[in-house]
Amino acid sequence: PPSAMGNEDVGREELGSLHGIPLYKSFVEGWPQVEAFKARPDDLLVATYPKSGTTWLSEILDMIYQDGDVEKCRRDAIFNRVPFLEMKAPKIPSGVELLEKTPSPRLVKTHLPVQLLPTSFWDKNCKVIYMARNAKDVVISYYYFYQMAKMHPDPGTLAEFLETFMAGKVAYGSWYDHVRGWWEKKHEKQILYLFYEDMKKDPRQEVQKILRFLGKEVAEGTVEKILHHTSFQEMKKNPAANYETMPIALMDHNLSPFLRKGISGDWKNHFTVAQNERFDQHYQEHMVGTDLCFQMEA
Ligand code: PPS
Repeated sequence: PPSAMGNEDVGREELGSLHGIPLYKSFVEGWPQVEAFKARPDDLLVATYPKSGTTWLSEILDMIYQDGDVEKCRRDAIFNRVPFLEMKAPKIPSGVELLEKTPSPRLVKTHLPVQLLPTSFWDKNCKVIYMARNAKDVVISYYYFYQMAKMHPDPGTLAEFLETFMAGKVAYGSWYDHVRGWWEKKHEKQILYLFYEDMKKDPRQEVQKILRFLGKEVAEGTVEKILHHTSFQEMKKNPAANYETMPIALMDHNLSPFLRKGISGDWKNHFTVAQNERFDQHYQEHMVGTDLCFQMEA
């Protein structure tokens, strides 16, 4: 409701557009540097639609890269350990600038839809891990994120935001196109396609999948350490993983914490029966003809 919104929303502005995809205007301005990005063959790309488990997967990968050394994984905030490729904001180094200073092997985060990924990643044959999460939990998580992260336009009511999301008018555009686009790409490229719901159900099995994909073996007990350190409870209290070191002007955790609930099926606590029917109808229309399937709860 507009009355609840006060001075704290001063930073909010409408989204710009990048090749037809709604995106923060500052990111659009920084696009030429992103498009020209020089990937290295040993870069590992973490690709997701927003709110699909990016930070979780990033922490798991850094733990794997640091051989389960928890202290090394506290060396910096997650957004510096795994730089965000297309990120660009006033007064701070851009994602590309951070990456240029990062020693190999680098972990790179992106939310770009597959057709916009800088070609260098394909030319260098980089490995990609994509993580997808069911649309209903994504839209709820995104709704809370729009409230706490001030670079977004005002999300309005949940009913309004559901319409904006279904129409693909949120940052990074259509969830449907995003998950389908990356799913199709997996036929031609080295892409490990993971699901948030599987990671919730059996994180050990998913970490094993990642290790196999990376061709990496770890010492006994390391998987144990990784699972413990990357649990929701541990990450929520870890300042290097929970985004609490972001300036409050950008993210206000009092409105909603970045690590909010971390479960599958929270949409059931938010959707009305009518909203759910409308969403299902729209979903079926937009997922027709794909063999990509989602679990709507854990
Ligand atoms: S972002 O801004 O797009 O990078 O956000 P992203 O990290 O992709 O998604 C945030 C949601 O992931 C949840 N999360 C976790 N769930 C389970 N376990 C762990 N360890 C974990 N870490 C982050 C986080 O809570 C957000 O989901 P919601 O549903 O809002 O809680």
